[in-house]
Amino acid sequence: MTPRALIALAAFLAVSCTANDEQKDIIYQLSEEQYYEMPQLFHLDEYNGCLATHNVYCLGSFELSADANNKLFQTMQRYSANWVDNFNHTRLHRGLCLNRSCSAQAPLSSASLPLEHELQAWFSSCVNATMQTSYGLRAHLYHLEYCKSSTPNPSRPLTASEKAFAATVAAMLALAVVSTTLDLTLSDHARKGAGWTLSWSVRQSWKTLTAPPTAAGDCDLRIFDGLRVFCMFCVIIEHVCWLATLSYVADTRHYEQSRRAGDVMLMTNSTLVVQIFFIMSSFLLAHKLLQDRTYLPPIRTFFTTMVNRIIRLSPSYFLVVWFASSWWERLGSGPQWAPLVTTEAQICRQKWWTHLLYLNNVLHPDDKCLIQTWYLAADTQLYAAALALTLLLRNRKWATVALGTLLVIATGVTFGLAYTWHLVPTYFVHRPESIRATYHGDASFNVLYQSPLGNAVGALCGLLLAHAHHALRRAGLRPEECQIFRWVSVLAAPFALWWVALSPLLLPVGPPSRGGAAALAAFERPVFALLVAVALLGAMNGVRSPWCTWMSGRGWAMFARLSFGALLLHMPLNKALLAAKLAPAQIDRRNAIFEWFGVAAVSYAASLPLALLVELPVMRLHRELTRLIHTNKTSQTVGINIR
Ligand SMILES: *[C@@H]1O[C@H](CO)[C@@H](O)[C@H](O)[C@H]1NC(C)=O
Ligand SMILES: *[C@@H]1O[C@H](CO)[C@@H](O)[C@H](O)[C@H]1NC(C)=O
Ligand SMILES: *[C@@H]1O[C@H](CO)[C@@H](O)[C@H](O)[C@H]1NC(C)=O
Repeated sequence: MTPRALIALAAFLAVSCTANDEQKDIIYQLSEEQYYEMPQLFHLDEYNGCLATHNVYCLGSFELSADANNKLFQTMQRYSANWVDNFNHTRLHRGLCLNRSCSAQAPLSSASLPLEHELQAWFSSCVNATMQTSYGLRAHLYHLEYCKSSTPNPSRPLTASEKAFAATVAAMLALAVVSTTLDLTLSDHARKGAGWTLSWSVRQSWKTLTAPPTAAGDCDLRIFDGLRVFCMFCVIIEHVCWLATLSYVADTRHYEQSRRAGDVMLMTNSTLVVQIFFIMSSFLLAHKLLQDRTYLPPIRTFFTTMVNRIIRLSPSYFLVVWFASSWWERLGSGPQWAPLVTTEAQICRQKWWTHLLYLNNVLHPDDKCLIQTWYLAADTQLYAAALALTLLLRNRKWATVALGTLLVIATGVTFGLAYTWHLVPTYFVHRPESIRATYHGDASFNVLYQSPLGNAVGALCGLLLAHAHHALRRAGLRPEECQIFRWVSVLAAPFALWWVALSPLLLPVGPPSRGGAAALAAFERPVFALLVAVALLGAMNGVRSPWCTWMSGRGWAMFARLSFGALLLHMPLNKALLAAKLAPAQIDRRNAIFEWFGVAAVSYAASLPLALLVELPVMRLHRELTRLIHTNKTSQTVGINIR
């Protein structure tokens, strides 16, 4: 190492290790008494009763301020400065029934109905006055969600989009009835010529759905089904707590205090398991191409593979996006319905077209419609890249080396970007105030979390896994016969979980230093993905372990096939549940566990009709039509040859 590099390294370490000044001013612990001396963050008055008696209900957020010598306010600021774990206690969120809670500040009403800004002033001065008298603080309304005096008219006329959606669903049901009837009544012979008319047969779809997992070829891929369901459950628990954070929270102290508990960190950080989806997706792609001995021209393989994928995903996906931008907001009401559901539905009506292009994670990245679908976009983009890469590297000796180099480059670039732009790792991305803003304007979320670049390492690890597997096969090596590999592979799975749970502890409590945050942001995904890849390499080659046996069970196949629907549906379902709540949500272990399994059960149940009536029929129709075109084409060429 040259002296200059050494100096640079020393300077870097010095910069990353010195805590910034504001860090000294942070309060990390407050006694229970001190905590509850601060004003409550969230409060909701009775909603239905207020509106039924023609009173005015307002919902909005307030910024607090105080004179320079206000001790309480200083405590609140210093406690909020730990933005990693705590809410910003200088912002209050209130839903109040004005006539009841704020009668003292009522405007000297003229006979006519009060104007919107008059209600806003009433709301604002009411909270300001309460804060003045109880805490000596001033409150300023900085975001008003709504003020209203009667329940919204449920008989609002249907929009064109809503009518079209209903017609589409009705058409699908009708198709299913006709197709199923044909399927049950036609003779086997009549059926043969008319395969495509039976596409919507529910009986056929059910058979496809419940078919046993396809028999393994040269390697054991049964574990993938169990893993898919396991990962889906990780995503659901994370989103249950995530959505609760997005809504009004009943006991913020409990929430903030448990952020650093092992299980809570595991839950918060468990969005890292999305890397497993990327690994599986690119592995299966490369595995299939490397086995393929037909050698179609690469360009053609590229387009048919991409078209097949788009046809598999799009029908259910677009239908759910359409639902979210049309009927969803009609399905409930509550004090938080407007901020949670109506707002998102409006965004969906604006950016639905980015979803059709699978570019919703890079176009208008700050506006979130069905936030979990960033994954579908990123996965499609990475799938195209992985496909091109595999076709380029097929049959090249140095493929594994090239992929390894790309992995190192991706990690390096991530580190560089994270350091330059002060980006933070996953656990810090999911901080309370950022969640409340659904990551609006959060560069870490846009650049690291939902971009194809940030997730490239998962896809690369999947490709590496496929290439390594095939290289070992070709060389006649059997990794499962090596004792050391067996141990490493069996232990890699629990290590991956430990990494998820404990990697945030590598950085000290409180706001992270710039270098440390960049390093963890760059390395958390590669470390996790490599551990998973090693575990998978063992599992595919028959290294036994309890978790592998459990996840390879036959029962998982059906749920694995339903996981895509569950991914699409769990968020709108869970959000509607929360948005219709009349009181702030309680987030603790008990509630989280019950809601976790409740949301999972409802989502999987709801994904059943989606699979039976949309996803599988469209796939079958596509298969039948390609077969028809194909036979036509072959008969034509045969005809030409004979002539
Ligand atoms: C509540 O206050 C509004 C605004 O001053 C007024 O128009 C309305 O009549 C009040 N409702 C009742 C039930 O007094
Ligand atoms: C908390 O909110 C206030 C008011 O919006 C803001 O000025 C302050 O910077 C926030 N504190 C932190 C730590 O983000
Ligand atoms: C809040 O009340 C104080 C004192 O009553 C007043 O000086 C201040 O202007 C008020 N602030 C707002 C935003 O209404």
